[in-house]
Amino acid sequence: MIKVVVCGASGRMGQTIGRMVNESSDLELVGGINLKPGSFFGVEIVESKNAESLLQRTRPDVLIDFTIAQAAVGNVKMAARNKVALVVGTTGFSGEQRAEMEQAIRGNVPAVISSNFSMGVNIFWQLLRDAGKLLKDYDIEVIEAHHRNKKDAPSGTAKTILQILDEEVGSRKKMYGREGMMERGNEIGVHVIRGGDIVGDHKVMFSKNFETIEISHRAYDRSVFATGALQAARWVAGKKPGIYGMNDVLNLGK
Ligand SMILES: NC(=O)c1ccc[n+]([C@@H]2O[C@H](COP(=O)([O-])OP(=O)(O)OC[C@H]3O[C@@H](n4cnc5c(N)ncnc54)[C@H](O)[C@@H]3O)[C@@H](O)[C@H]2O)c1
Repeated sequence: MIKVVVCGASGRMGQTIGRMVNESSDLELVGGINLKPGSFFGVEIVESKNAESLLQRTRPDVLIDFTIAQAAVGNVKMAARNKVALVVGTTGFSGEQRAEMEQAIRGNVPAVISSNFSMGVNIFWQLLRDAGKLLKDYDIEVIEAHHRNKKDAPSGTAKTILQILDEEVGSRKKMYGREGMMERGNEIGVHVIRGGDIVGDHKVMFSKNFETIEISHRAYDRSVFATGALQAARWVAGKKPGIYGMNDVLNLGK
């Protein structure tokens, strides 16, 4: 059995992951961490100030973190100190936060970090790489939509999309929304929609005169992210220390 602690246990993703870990036969839910104590799926949720003692008491194999960037950096450092493997789904890290997290991980523990754990989005990213190589002279627009409670914008998935486009098409200026009189240049337009309970939509449009190619992904349920996070937890337990992505878990190449 692979023992799992979920950080952000009372959140939307934490609840979905807790339920699915609890339902699986090869993973054991041993605890949760959140801002307030409580319980979920038969195990205790401790408040974050007692997180380290929970790890020392329950000795999990993997800590799965879906919280907020600032909290995740501290959680990653704590897991690395206690030699607990990591699955990090939290998004919205600054460059400094990402570097701090990576420094704590290197040489200490294995960690799968991904802005999107769904298999569909990981395949979408692969398709985008292929499209980007072939469509360098097209105008590119990126559109993402999420529920009204999402805190970071653009989404981590959209930032990964922009990074892939930089790598495959070449670096272009990003234009976050447009207003007023302006001519389109060589920029990539980035558009963020927030409303209702949208789980997560991403679309990339490549346009030229008389034609547009669109690559899009729509998540209908958080269980697609949770399924990938559980797959990553099974894969990462016992791996060599280092930073891995869902492409490694899914064996998708780059
Ligand atoms: N990588 C992916 O596939 C993927 C998918 C969905 C969401 N996300 C990301 O996961 C994160 C969580 O998303 P959500 O929709 O569940 O958000 P949410 O707001 O519903 O849940 C986050 C939870 O973390 C808790 N939290 C905050 N600080 C904490 C701390 N110091 N210690 C422990 N818990 C703390 C909050 O109280 C909250 O319950 C976001 O960054 C989101 O963008 C990633």
